Amino acid sequence: MTIVISVSSIRGGVGKSSLSLELSLYLSTKGKVLLIDTDFYAPTIFNEINSRLKHKALSATKHFSRDVFKGLCEVKDSVVKASTNFYVMFSDPKVNLWELSTDIGTKEFWIDENPNKPSQAELGLAKIKEYTDKLSFDFIVFDSMAGMAYPVIFFSYLSTYPIFLTRASLPQVEDAVGFINLVGSAEKPINLVWSNVPNADSFLQTTRAKLNQAIQEKCGNRFRALGYIPRDPEFERAALEGNLTMIPNALNSAYFKQLNVLINTMFNNK
Ligand SMILES: Nc1ncnc2c1ncn2[C@@H]1O[C@H](COP(=O)(O)OP(=O)(O)O)[C@@H](O)[C@H]1O
Ligand SMILES: [Mg+2]
Repeated sequence: MTIVISVSSIRGGVGKSSLSLELSLYLSTKGKVLLIDTDFYAPTIFNEINSRLKHKALSATKHFSRDVFKGLCEVKDSVVKASTNFYVMFSDPKVNLWELSTDIGTKEFWIDENPNKPSQAELGLAKIKEYTDKLSFDFIVFDSMAGMAYPVIFFSYLSTYPIFLTRASLPQVEDAVGFINLVGSAEKPINLVWSNVPNADSFLQTTRAKLNQAIQEKCGNRFRALGYIPRDPEFERAALEGNLTMIPNALNSAYFKQLNVLINTMFNNK
């Protein structure tokens, strides 16, 4: 069985794409991974992988995740091998907002009115699953766009392991509460990750318990506090300099250490 992970958030810039990418790379040391960029409005995985992995073949991609969901191409024609055990389906960096709003922006595209009829997006997802089953993929990771639009709900709802990122502050607890109560359930709780935590020590001692409790009061067992991601100065600096050496240096970084903890929590509790 392929484990399907989705990474969502209400706000932009909280670290979804970074987590999706690092998580995928990490998981590719354990099994075969397909990372799918479903940020149709502001995709970043394309550039990240081009600059990090210096992979020339990536710029030759002709088909994107949107084409797959629209049924315009075969899944195999949209998947690119980025490194050992790590495959990527990009989102089109040349975004056509008109096209997005008139087809994949509609509710019907994702959720059909008729519950017995699969939506266009469900058909696309079924084709992806057929492909990943055939080629024995162990993990699919969906990097989502920010917000609570239909595709975000779709991927979170249909993943086996939905992750939701939010900044560690009381005002942003409301984002998490809204999302969790909409998409999470006791059977499949949303896995909450506090992102960009500036001071891990004090966060661990007091703030985390307070934030988790605030969510617990409003969401009960519809969520699971998975952990946190520190604000990593090394990571921030590398991104600013456009010199993303995160992958080779990852083992020493605060970010990666915490990613390790997250993954252990994810898979040991399952
Ligand atoms: N834990 C972190 N520490 C420092 N910088 C981070 C961290 N996570 C992400 N960033 C940086 O923040 C920016 C936004 O991250 P990104 O993953 O693209 O967010 P999103 O996909 O949620 O919009 C990027 O420049 C990224 O390098
Ligand atoms: Mg992103």
